Amino acid sequence: MNSTAVLVDKDLRIAVVGLGYIGLPTAAILAAQGVEVVGVDINPDTVAAVNAGEPPFVEPDLATYVSGAVQRGLLSASTEMPHADVYIVAVPTPFLDDHAPDLSYIKAAGEAIAPQLRGGELVILESTSPPGATQKLADWIFAARPDLVGSDAAPEFAHCPERVLPGKVMVELVENDRIVGGLTPRASKRACEVYAIFCNGQLLTTDAMTAEMAKLVENSFRDVNIAFANELSLICDRLGIDVWELIELANHHPRVNILQPGPGVGGHCIAVDPWFIVDAAPDLTKVIRSARDVNDGKPQWVLEKVLRSVDGSETPVVAALGLAFKPDIDDLRESPARRIAGELADQLPGGRILVVEPHIDGLPAELANRRNVELVDIDRALAEADLAVLLVDHTAFKGLRPAIPFVDTRGIWK
Ligand SMILES: NC(=O)c1ccc[n+]([C@@H]2O[C@H](COP(=O)([O-])OP(=O)(O)OC[C@H]3O[C@@H](n4cnc5c(N)ncnc54)[C@H](O)[C@@H]3O)[C@@H](O)[C@H]2O)c1
Repeated sequence: MNSTAVLVDKDLRIAVVGLGYIGLPTAAILAAQGVEVVGVDINPDTVAAVNAGEPPFVEPDLATYVSGAVQRGLLSASTEMPHADVYIVAVPTPFLDDHAPDLSYIKAAGEAIAPQLRGGELVILESTSPPGATQKLADWIFAARPDLVGSDAAPEFAHCPERVLPGKVMVELVENDRIVGGLTPRASKRACEVYAIFCNGQLLTTDAMTAEMAKLVENSFRDVNIAFANELSLICDRLGIDVWELIELANHHPRVNILQPGPGVGGHCIAVDPWFIVDAAPDLTKVIRSARDVNDGKPQWVLEKVLRSVDGSETPVVAALGLAFKPDIDDLRESPARRIAGELADQLPGGRILVVEPHIDGLPAELANRRNVELVDIDRALAEADLAVLLVDHTAFKGLRPAIPFVDTRGIWK
């Protein structure tokens, strides 16, 4: 808890390794508290943008924090790893083709940190990580610095996963409770002191492996619940029941809270993190794995439903509404809507796909390269299309009542 934390020495120098959606806001908010922060990134464009006080991506209030911290001389960025008292590692953790976690970014960060260590540093892993990754990071660093093994000057290690919501990062960084898991209790305590600099939420200490699992479990819980809703949507479609009405009614039970079905699960967290648990215990993860399969199978089901609806037309025109992986953002990463739009274009070579995505100015390359796909505004799409498929429940689509037949994967046109 914050209240038990020892006041941290603000003369600390903190290096944040990886200046993406997580690392840069963390660096900026630490610097806003008067701490000297060096951001490290392998991408020179990112480093140049931060040093110019301009974040390379959009997140509300982030630009104000970054430009203010850079102007005060508290935040700078570099492609070179500096010496620091505390290292916070926030590099990507994608999965490989077989869904095994790819820890190569964490390893590379550790190998860059190792030569800089002078003794007594704290290394915090913030990247979403499979169980055991913090220990692996320590092992990689000690392998590069055998002189530090077992010495009083050995660095200490902790895992502190991040749960911020894109679009509310600068608020949630401060307000959210955090789980802090050290490889030793002393490492947990030291990491808590770092987070107490800016975090008003509770700082809940545990061991590193439990902290790693906690983050994965949170996202798997949501994935399993969404898979349940998606499975219900298939059953209801066959039985002629409105799944959204059904879920709304069931959720009146005081202990039931079913999430909403959709076209599939996208993004870089919920669709990724459960695989790290599956990889850690493949023989024991029947539910978690099935949930992934159900959610990954939903785009194909939507595709087939649309194809059946336009069957018989040589030149169907389909309006595909939304490409983002969730409402009211411009992030298309791992988006099922994007996959469905591409598949529709391939399966309907004589037709046209009119994509409406109010949050982007141009189609991603794989859609732009298809000659039968066009990015258009909503009025034109609904005027020209034979059928609309609603893929993302953007606010901009909510008040519509299309006069043409439609497939609504989010239940907003009831
Ligand atoms: N974005 C989110 O909403 C979110 C939420 C919770 C957790 N996470 C987790 O946080 C971690 C970071 O995610 P992100 O969204 O910030 O990723 P990102 O892709 O936005 O940023 C990662 C940054 O790390 C840099 N990088 C890669 N290898 C490096 C290295 N060896 N040294 C220095 N920099 C390096 C990249 O150039 C990039 O700028 C991931 O593990 C992710 O799962 C993300």
